[in-house]
Amino acid sequence: MSYLLSCCLYVWLILLPVRTSALNEEIEVLVFLPKNNSYLFSISRVTPAIEYATQTMKLNGLPYSGLNFTVHYENSDCGNEALFSLVERSCMKKPDLILGPVCEYAAAQVVRMASHWNIPVISAGALATGFNQKEKEYSHLTRVAPTYLKMAETFSALFHDFSWKSAVLIYDDDKEERNCYFTLEGVHSVLDAEDYHIHVVVIYSKVDADEIIKETYDYDVVIMCAGADIIRDIMLAAYRRRLTNNSIFFNIELFNSSSYGNGSWKRGDKYDADAKHAYAALNVVTLLRTVKPQFENFSMEVKKSMQKAGISGDGANINMFMEGFHDALQLYAMALHDVIKNGSNKKDGVQITQRMWNRTFEGIAGQVSIDANGDRNGDFSVMTMTDLQAGTYEAVFNYYGNNGTLQKMPVFNRDRFTLQVRHRIPKSEDPDKSSGGLGVSAVTGIIVGGLLGTALLMAFYFFRKNYRITIERRTQREECDIGKHRQLREDSIRSNFSAA
Ligand SMILES: *[C@@H]1O[C@H](CO)[C@@H](O)[C@H](O)[C@H]1NC(C)=O
Ligand SMILES: *[C@@H]1O[C@H](CO)[C@@H](O)[C@H](O)[C@H]1NC(C)=O
Ligand SMILES: *[C@@H]1O[C@H](CO)[C@@H](O)[C@H](O)[C@H]1NC(C)=O
Ligand SMILES: *[C@@H]1O[C@H](CO)[C@@H](O)[C@H](O)[C@H]1NC(C)=O
Ligand SMILES: *[C@@H]1O[C@H](CO)[C@@H](O)[C@H](O)[C@H]1NC(C)=O
Ligand SMILES: *[C@@H]1O[C@H](CO)[C@@H](O)[C@H](O)[C@H]1NC(C)=O
Ligand SMILES: *[C@@H]1O[C@H](CO)[C@@H](O)[C@H](O)[C@H]1NC(C)=O
Ligand SMILES: *[C@@H]1O[C@H](CO)[C@@H](O)[C@H](O)[C@H]1NC(C)=O
Ligand SMILES: *[C@@H]1O[C@H](CO)[C@@H](O)[C@H](O)[C@H]1NC(C)=O
Repeated sequence: MSYLLSCCLYVWLILLPVRTSALNEEIEVLVFLPKNNSYLFSISRVTPAIEYATQTMKLNGLPYSGLNFTVHYENSDCGNEALFSLVERSCMKKPDLILGPVCEYAAAQVVRMASHWNIPVISAGALATGFNQKEKEYSHLTRVAPTYLKMAETFSALFHDFSWKSAVLIYDDDKEERNCYFTLEGVHSVLDAEDYHIHVVVIYSKVDADEIIKETYDYDVVIMCAGADIIRDIMLAAYRRRLTNNSIFFNIELFNSSSYGNGSWKRGDKYDADAKHAYAALNVVTLLRTVKPQFENFSMEVKKSMQKAGISGDGANINMFMEGFHDALQLYAMALHDVIKNGSNKKDGVQITQRMWNRTFEGIAGQVSIDANGDRNGDFSVMTMTDLQAGTYEAVFNYYGNNGTLQKMPVFNRDRFTLQVRHRIPKSEDPDKSSGGLGVSAVTGIIVGGLLGTALLMAFYFFRKNYRITIERRTQREECDIGKHRQLREDSIRSNFSAA
């Protein structure tokens, strides 16, 4: 009997340290974000959110308890820097978890390396469509912010609801981070798969808004992604040509809430009155904001920390990246608890990643639902000018990604989204159409690609002759280098939109 008792005690003593050590994990986290505060997801902005998460998880008990996070921040800029520091750091000790990078090209390299090393990566960025292919090189990537493809579902729902048939996509390509390019790539993927007729206009440098607006004549919907000044020029050109009734206009502005709606038409110049009328026809797609009581405390704490870091004004607003990286740690903690319960450990990157997918939980700003492919379902709003006198905007639709429904708000007015009888433009007024047999024409500062995929890239080479006059003058050699550079970088994400 006493033998049995001491045996039990012995077993219990052996099990005890195992059980407690399971709840006392040291987690090395490596965060890749840019130092430069011109990014909405700079280290100084996101650090307070990550620290808030580690602090509150200590207090909140299961399913977060027992995890001791040690967080290292690395400056990733938006190019190769992140890859280099990952490799250098990992020579000493590989991290257990990587957060970021946000920029597409930096993320592509880091995620490939991490997937190879079996390290989970969670990012509130890497929103490009290429990252959807999780079978191979991006297998360990979980995205906690809604991707461009999820945003594009909003358009799919709208097209369905209003029976629109065709769209022209206009985007500004900065050739660096290429946010607008990737944004509209998502829209293109979704609409193209549903067989809508699509035409693409790329703005490379100088903008001739009149030339751009000519490209929109025959299309039901115009979807734009560009800087606020370019959007204003295009809307003014549309208004002058009385085309604001001809198509339904959209601008996509996901992150920088101060630049859409209420007064974004206002510049204090002589065009303000026209711009206000023109913007009455412009709808803006943006992230749906939800607020819950816990968010207030988060928001105040994070703002306080940002103030200490010298960030204030508009730039100190809480954004999707801060929320996302906060929720990323929460999601990881829950997944790791499950994995440890199942008898594995923090080095089992495959299982941890799997446990993060197909999962819904309460994030800091509201419900977060990660789909079975490891990407967050997104909720979006469409904002429209509802007070024509004051020129202020309100949300008229909300799109909910997890059930795919479009909710119409009380201020919604169906007429605004119904196509009028199209104002006929005589073909002779449009000389540029004849210059490109492939549906590709080069006009001042823009290249128009009727065909996509390879065609867009080919057009870049084919029509370089026309193109050369339009962009800044470059030597032959420089031009060649830029072409190569572009192609390499595009290949680096395997984007369906551009690379063959
Ligand atoms: C930060 O980024 C902006 C815009 O890209 C750039 O003009 C500026 O020089 C950068 N600052 C530093 C310190 O690198
Ligand atoms: C957490 O980890 C740090 C660094 O490894 C260590 O100094 C600290 O004591 C740990 N805290 C707990 C509660 O284990
Ligand atoms: C748009 O249509 C409305 C009604 O059909 C008309 O009153 C208005 O003048 C039109 N606006 C433009 C810019 O053509
Ligand atoms: C946000 O938009 C405002 C107004 O258009 C602009 O001045 C500001 O630079 C933008 N901020 C960022 C981080 O893009
Ligand atoms: C946030 O909550 C914590 C703990 O509940 C509290 O200590 C802190 O003062 C709160 N911060 C603000 C700004 O209310
Ligand atoms: C639990 O762990 C086993 C072995 O490590 C693994 O085969 C199984 O898939 C895990 N269960 C779940 C639900 O992930
Ligand atoms: C996702 O989870 C639900 C239950 O929560 C399950 O029924 C479904 O099969 C899962 N889907 C995948 C693809 O794992
Ligand atoms: C625009 O202003 C109105 C009235 O001031 C306000 O109700 C609304 O929330 C504002 N919209 C945005 C997007 O700031
Ligand atoms: C879809 O989800 C949203 C929020 O998640 C909810 O408000 C809405 O009622 C749902 N719609 C349907 C048709 O289930």
